[in-house]
Amino acid sequence: MTTRRSILAAMGLAPVLAATGAGAHSAFFAPTGTLREAAERRGRYFGAALRPEFLSDERLRRAVLGDCGSLTPEIHLKWDALRPTPDQWTTQPVEELLDFAARHDLTVRGHALLWPQSTPAWAARDIGRQGWSVIEAHFDGVFARFGDRIHDWDVVNEPVGDDGGLRPNLFHRAVGPDYVERALRAARERSATARLVVNDYGLEYDNPVEARRREGLLALVRDLRRQGAPLDAVGLQAHLDLSKGPLKAEILKPFLRRLADEGVEILITELDVKEAALDGGAAARDQRVSDAVDRYLELALAEPAVKGVTTWGLSDRHSWLQSDGAADLNRGLPYDAALNPKPMRDAIQARLAA
Ligand code: XIL
Repeated sequence: MTTRRSILAAMGLAPVLAATGAGAHSAFFAPTGTLREAAERRGRYFGAALRPEFLSDERLRRAVLGDCGSLTPEIHLKWDALRPTPDQWTTQPVEELLDFAARHDLTVRGHALLWPQSTPAWAARDIGRQGWSVIEAHFDGVFARFGDRIHDWDVVNEPVGDDGGLRPNLFHRAVGPDYVERALRAARERSATARLVVNDYGLEYDNPVEARRREGLLALVRDLRRQGAPLDAVGLQAHLDLSKGPLKAEILKPFLRRLADEGVEILITELDVKEAALDGGAAARDQRVSDAVDRYLELALAEPAVKGVTTWGLSDRHSWLQSDGAADLNRGLPYDAALNPKPMRDAIQARLAA
């Protein structure tokens, strides 16, 4: 039988696993095994976002099977991908991903039920005219198709604005400020047990906008919990960005603690690193990326409420973070474009295992 370990051995991964300084005995105590194993040993999960068509690349398949316990469809569960026109459901890519997950004992995160950027124009128009019932009908369609197989949903994606208030998006305009609460309740009506998540970005760094965004998310979570809304977890996208300065313990730790104090779990849902400069050679760039991830996970995984880590892709080849016109790929994911593991992977493993 093919085990994850034998797959890794076949990939020649064993040597690179003896990574990062774990003190004088690091060679002896160096973490070994897959990211999935490292996470699961600590009661967490590790996963990645993916498009099913990437799985035809054998090297990516092996990396996924080696390291992931969870998958997130990168685009195919979004409203515009699922239902480009009112009379057409495109479910085949999600079915493909769910089949793959079921065959290999992986869980799947549902991303995302409501996100303005992935709401098709026809639905935005209908919501403007008919309001809430259009959202209910969408949830009906999605849960009828996938609700038996997906138990972890980003119900609302990116509700917080840069001023810390609710973003005045199409849902807010049509339904009012309680659309987040109503969406959570509607999801719960359709799944009694799924983990229901509000997911957002721009929460990591020491600058005025992100400070407001942190307070805004905390206020939203507090309000939802007070109203008895079925919010189980908060998703932190964690799109790190090397141009935004260092990650600070005095910022991140109290933020995570305060979220946890509201009684929610915390998931890191879209981890990757945007490079500030593509210069310095691959090794130097990979080290900068790895250092940022190491620091982020050092701070985040110290918080027991953090239950899992998902990277937004596994290989640089498929990363959404490509700058227009740049000759070189952004190197902000655990594997390079040829599917060689990079220091970022070692950092994730060491922090998950710590
Ligand atoms: C991105 C995908 O990676 C892209 O391929 C797509 O074109 C746009 O969406 N925050 C999110 C994700 O919640 O859904 C986004 O994914 C990245 C930012």
